[in-house]
Amino acid sequence: MSEQTGPTPVAPPRRAATSRPGHLSAEILERARQTIALYPEPRSALIPLCHLAQEQDGWLTPEAMTDIAGLVGVTPAEVLGTASFYDMLHTEPVGAHVVSICTNIACLLNGATELLEHAESTLGVNAGGTTADGAVTLEEAECLADCDRAPCVQVNHRFVGAQNAETFDRLVADLRSGARAGEIPGHGTLGRIRRANGLEADPARVASERAAEAEAQARRAEAARAAADTSGGSGS
Ligand code: FES
Repeated sequence: MSEQTGPTPVAPPRRAATSRPGHLSAEILERARQTIALYPEPRSALIPLCHLAQEQDGWLTPEAMTDIAGLVGVTPAEVLGTASFYDMLHTEPVGAHVVSICTNIACLLNGATELLEHAESTLGVNAGGTTADGAVTLEEAECLADCDRAPCVQVNHRFVGAQNAETFDRLVADLRSGARAGEIPGHGTLGRIRRANGLEADPARVASERAAEAEAQARRAEAARAAADTSGGSGS
């Protein structure tokens, strides 16, 4: 008996990017468009655009997510659904400095629990909370891959080395005074996406590649429809 196979699945048509962004700044929008031009499909730039928007506001506001959705041709709910999966993207407001203390095994054995308790007590917030002055959001983190410098602490996703109660208090004082601003910029600030070069793509080439892909998709859809018609006709 021959195995029955259904029609070849066809990718859903790409949603057109239509809405006019109203929240993101002109500079962020320009960088967003340059970033989108690097990808064959605009929606592939969704995560880099989330980082760009986070650089503007420090977190992903609903307005920014709506702008991103319009730029890449998805719904705001899809932006939220993607962003909420990743630790480095924040869909709720956070402080200027997100301080992450790892409490996984290597750090646990080197005083992470005591350090976290000290941090909660001196900052006056539980893990997950933000200080009243908006300077610090405290996070309890899983392994941050810096186990040989335990207990590992990150500020805005930059490693600041192992900390004890005393050095932690100094670190927080430095963050509040701006003494380490050159080394640890405000939350959301990107380093790698701000390149002197490498963010340019030839728009004509991108347009021609996208047109070719759209044609290929249409051909696949037509072939799938023809196969479905044939199998429907032969089964009756
Ligand atoms: S266990 Fe803390 S960084 Fe790996």
